[in-house]
Order: sequence, then C-alpha cells, then structure tokens
Amino acid sequence: MQIILCESAEHVGGRAADVIDARVRQGPAVLGLATGGSPKSTYQELIRRHREEQLSFSQVTAFTLDEYAGLPPEHEQSYYSTIRREFADHVDLPLEQLITPHGDAPDLVAEAERYDAAITAAGGVDIQILGIGANGHIGFNEPTSSLVSRTRVKTLAGATRADNARFFPEGDVPRLCLTQGLGTIREAKLAVLVAMGENKAEAVQAMVEGPVSAHCPASVLQMHRRAVVILDPAAASRLSLLDYYRDAQEFNDQLGQTPTRPWLQQPLVQQG
Ligand code: PGA
Repeated sequence: MQIILCESAEHVGGRAADVIDARVRQGPAVLGLATGGSPKSTYQELIRRHREEQLSFSQVTAFTLDEYAGLPPEHEQSYYSTIRREFADHVDLPLEQLITPHGDAPDLVAEAERYDAAITAAGGVDIQILGIGANGHIGFNEPTSSLVSRTRVKTLAGATRADNARFFPEGDVPRLCLTQGLGTIREAKLAVLVAMGENKAEAVQAMVEGPVSAHCPASVLQMHRRAVVILDPAAASRLSLLDYYRDAQEFNDQLGQTPTRPWLQQPLVQQG
C-alpha cells in the first residue's frame, strides 16, 4: 500500500488525476468510477485537463462501482445520472462506453452476475477510483461484507442511508443496492482511494493499519497488489505511522517517483 499525504482536498484530486492521466494517455483503458463527495476534486481536475491539456477519454471504458436498486438510470439520484453530471458529460467519454449496473433490472441477482462478467470480459479494470465510507465501506460493501464477494445485491447500512438521506428529501432512500464485491474490486490492476475530512480518519486508520477484517471492508486493500491511498491532513490525522509515510514519500519524491510513476513503474520504496 502506498500512502500519499496531501495538503488539501484539491491537492488530493490533483494527485489522483496524475495517476489516471498517465494511464489514459497510454491508450485504451478501463476505469472504475466511484460516486460521492470524495472523488469530486479528482473529476474536476480531469475535466480541467480534458479542456485545457488535451486529455481524451475517447478510448476509455468506464464501469461504475455501484447503483441503488429500484432506481431507473434516468432518476436524478441514480449513480448513472450522478456520474454523468459530475464527470462523463464534461469529457469525451462515449456514453456507450459508460457502463453501470441497472438498478431497475427485473432480476437483480442476474443483473449483478451479468455486470461482474462484463467487467471481466472488458479485460478487468486498470484503475479503480474509490472513496471510503465513515463505516469503512468501499462501493456499497458494508461492514461484514465477504472479502471475496462479487458484484451482488446488498442491503444498505442504516448509517449509509442516513448519510445519503440528504439526496432524498421525500425520505425514500433505497434499502437495496447493487455493488461490485470486494473480490471484484481487488482484481483491479491499480486501486486509488481518496479520502478527505476528519469524519473519515477513523476508517482510514482501520483500513491502513488495522487488521484485515470484514468489519472494515476497505482493509481488503491491504491484500491488493497495488493500492494507492491519497489523503488530506484531516483524513490522515489518526494514522500512527505518519512519520514513516512522510519519510517514504519524501524519499520516493527525491528518486523521481512522482505520483504518475506508480502506474508506469513499481515505486522503489514500498511502504508495505
Ligand atoms: P463520500 O462517500 O465520498 O460521499 O464521502 C464515500 C463512500 O461512502 O463510499
């Protein structure tokens, strides 16, 4: 796991965008896209580079992480609509290459299996962007999710429904979702998790330094071949080995291991 400590949310977005930019400019790529507040600064920076630095997504295929069950794609709060609003509609990603689970499918179990198989058929995800929930979830893999789970139907935790209630003023927050499983996410060639804010600090500490446990689903990234965790000071504030991460980051920087390099070349100095 590589920990990158940043000064601000904008800096987090810039560093994550560096990694994605480097891969996308290499040629056809498969990206895994997350919704939520955490990746917004990353998307904003990618949109800026598309407009100002000729970063093209025309050869990208994108799979979203999750979707509410029961919402048609055109519903304002579906994650399909959200990812279009926050990213896809502002770049040149062809819409037929934006692939999401269908929350209104008549058979959700079959839809989950179809979606998982579609990711595999596309050759797997090159870079998976992730946020983390205050309860340690990634995607909608709530605490006690199997560490080897595949895309499936899940019941949302009360805490997650409460977090998202602000988007559903009628109080009709869905109870079920479709989410890529932890085993599915683990197969991405590179995982980039971004986190900001004090309310994420405890979950970040458990993910990076706690035991690998279904109690903190994000801790499955300790078992990932190449996971990069990009944090603002508040999200990093509970890490006990901060000095070590800072020292390794400085040494990597001296060696020219910029944030784009982890994709192109294994960092010389590993943090674990
Ligand atoms: P957030 O959510 O990015 O909106 O904080 C992250 C998550 O719950 O996965």
